[in-house]
Amino acid sequence: MKRRDFLRTGAVVAASALFLPLSGTKVFGALSGIQAKNLIPAVKLNNGIQMPRLGFGTNTLNGDIAERSVADAISVGYRLIDTAHIYGNEEAVGAGIKKSGINREELFVTSKLWVDDAGFESTKKAYQTTLNKLGLEYLNLYLIHRPRGDVKGSWKAMEELYEAGKIRAIGVSNFDPDQLAELMAYAKIKPVINQIETHVFLQENKSYEALMKTGVQMEAWSPFAAGRNEIFSNPTLASIGKKHNKSIAQVCLRWHFQRGVVAIPRSTKKAHMMENLVIFDFELDSSDMQTIATLDLNKTQFPEWG
Ligand SMILES: NC(=O)c1ccc[n+]([C@@H]2O[C@H](COP(=O)([O-])OP(=O)(O)OC[C@H]3O[C@@H](n4cnc5c(N)ncnc54)[C@H](OP(=O)(O)O)[C@@H]3O)[C@@H](O)[C@H]2O)c1
Repeated sequence: MKRRDFLRTGAVVAASALFLPLSGTKVFGALSGIQAKNLIPAVKLNNGIQMPRLGFGTNTLNGDIAERSVADAISVGYRLIDTAHIYGNEEAVGAGIKKSGINREELFVTSKLWVDDAGFESTKKAYQTTLNKLGLEYLNLYLIHRPRGDVKGSWKAMEELYEAGKIRAIGVSNFDPDQLAELMAYAKIKPVINQIETHVFLQENKSYEALMKTGVQMEAWSPFAAGRNEIFSNPTLASIGKKHNKSIAQVCLRWHFQRGVVAIPRSTKKAHMMENLVIFDFELDSSDMQTIATLDLNKTQFPEWG
């Protein structure tokens, strides 16, 4: 992303403008726990709704840990919470949201339809189950988790739920460019998001280009590769971090941000949650970006999920 574009879309505004759209750019966040300079800018999705450009992931978090982590994440300023039926934690995530005491309208909650529920009727049923578990009246974003089974039937059901005002936005996850093009060929409503595995070791340049062209927002799952391939002690990332007085985690998240990719890091530690928010007060230069480009192994770090 060019600096000019970054400054336009990534503008972090003064605390006085909190929660208010400013020249079409909204910021998400809270003043308690973080400083105004760390408020989270928003991106406008292709259906016009605004989504925080940095969120909180909940895969593998369960029970009390999920509930506490979600409440902590919201307390330090996260407003986008990502869960999925298959994580088995929607009830705990919902409890964490409730515990946080935040107004529902200030949150952006995402969940995902698992492959076992693919198909028209089963998607509608699965959506209601997800809402019941989360204890919410609506989701901001509902995604088809994987391109398996009756995707066409699922998409039609999601379009109907969206048109009935029961979901604010619909999208997909783990679709490659061909699978996305296939869906777009019959979709009445365009997906707003494709959430895919993306981190410095799997930069997904082909998907990145395709998504940029079609106006479907790219969202990175496992923005830290879930710690695999020793990302948190990678010497290249450490040296870029040293130059900016930032941690490896912050360099990674800043890289996603400058590419225009929404990231949803997970953490159980409040200190890490806060550290991961402090990425809006520095900029990776073009040589940093080029160096990070060389880390691409073009290979999943999760071969077991293939
Ligand atoms: N759509 C899909 O198919 C799909 C698949 C996988 C994931 N996802 C989503 O993407 C989210 C994120 O991916 P992920 O959970 O796989 O992993 P991740 O966010 O890439 O990495 C999480 C790991 O990073 C550590 N960490 C976080 N902040 C850190 C920091 N500042 N310094 C050092 N370590 C730090 C965490 O440990 P601590 O707890 O110790 O901080 C944890 O071990 C998921 O939670 C889920 O919501 C979606």
